[in-house]
Amino acid sequence: ASGPLVDTHGRVHRDLRISLTDRCSLRCTYCMPEQGNEWLARTSILTLDEIERAARVAAAAGVSTFRLTGGEPLLRRDIVDVVQRLAAIEGPDGPVQIAMTTNGIRLGEVLPDLIAAGLHRLNISIDTLRADRFHELTRRDRLGDVLEGIAAAAASGLRPLKLNAVAMRGVNDDELVDLVAFAVSHGAQMRFIEQMPLDAGHTWDRTQMVTREEILDALAARWTLVPIPGRAGAPAERWALDGGPHSVGVIASVTAPFCGDCDRLRLTADGQLRNCLFSTTEYDLVPALRSGGDDAEIETILRACVRGKLPGHAINDPSFLQPARGMNAIGG
Ligand code: GTP
Ligand code: 5AD
Ligand code: SF4
Repeated sequence: ASGPLVDTHGRVHRDLRISLTDRCSLRCTYCMPEQGNEWLARTSILTLDEIERAARVAAAAGVSTFRLTGGEPLLRRDIVDVVQRLAAIEGPDGPVQIAMTTNGIRLGEVLPDLIAAGLHRLNISIDTLRADRFHELTRRDRLGDVLEGIAAAAASGLRPLKLNAVAMRGVNDDELVDLVAFAVSHGAQMRFIEQMPLDAGHTWDRTQMVTREEILDALAARWTLVPIPGRAGAPAERWALDGGPHSVGVIASVTAPFCGDCDRLRLTADGQLRNCLFSTTEYDLVPALRSGGDDAEIETILRACVRGKLPGHAINDPSFLQPARGMNAIGG
């Protein structure tokens, strides 16, 4: 088979999210239990060469963006090499784009090297600006390190710079306006995310989720929101604040799913391809990567993964089953 990665619903896949580790320097309550998870065995984590090979095959099949995720991707000791080797891959229309989603810790330290290695875009998670809340939510007292990372990203000129916050009832839902103002002051775009059922404790509860509607109501009290037409497949809907130039985004995966335009695939740190955040099937690349399989074999597995993709997630169905892997081992 050749040609683009089109699934049985006509969606073309151009974006591969690569999880580099399941470990993290934080323990966000919506992602991991306090004691952490049982980590993936070190020997099962893909090496730089293995990641590069899988990525090269994906790019040859039409993938043009790699987003590095975790856990926390900056915990990978060879993170700069990962960026450098992936950035050198030729995509379907020129060099691939390298993006990263990070908790921001350590960013101040490594950002210049990441940019020199070829990093194009950054999304940084920040759910609250209050140190006590940050500590409670992430179970680590590290807001200062995150703010340093965001300041470094803002100063670096990498744009667009996006800040992510999961909106949570009674936790940070009184801070939405403050978070937007903070992002604006850093030349960044704030994005609010509806919480999805991906927590390790399986305690997700629809009533705790702050919805797109509620987020927009809170913001509309402060700004006039003018919708900005979006790219199909972009998870965030965007609105200009008071006519612009600044904007805010909402990722409404639960109440307004974008599955119909989804262009994403995922590779876990232990070499499993997933066609959805919520898929219960994984496609194992490890035998092909470690037992002498050729690139054609990797491509066959990649295409099988795309072919097996369902039309959308079933969060809103009564029969919904949360995937066995936690968010930290899928990569968001
Ligand atoms: P951009 O391409 O820059 O817009 O990044 P992104 O929003 O795709 O990536 P990011 O890692 O910043 O994720 C932000 C939120 O979107 C997180 O909550 C992710 O879990 C969620 N997200 C990303 N991709 C998907 C997806 O394919 N499906 C769903 N349901 N959520 C997704
Ligand atoms: N629902 C929605 N977003 C989540 N994230 C982590 N867990 C969840 C969840 N249960 C977000 C993080 C980060 C991104 C990778 O995913 O806050 O911004
Ligand atoms: Fe770490 Fe991200 Fe999970 Fe928080 S959401 S514990 S920052 S992997």
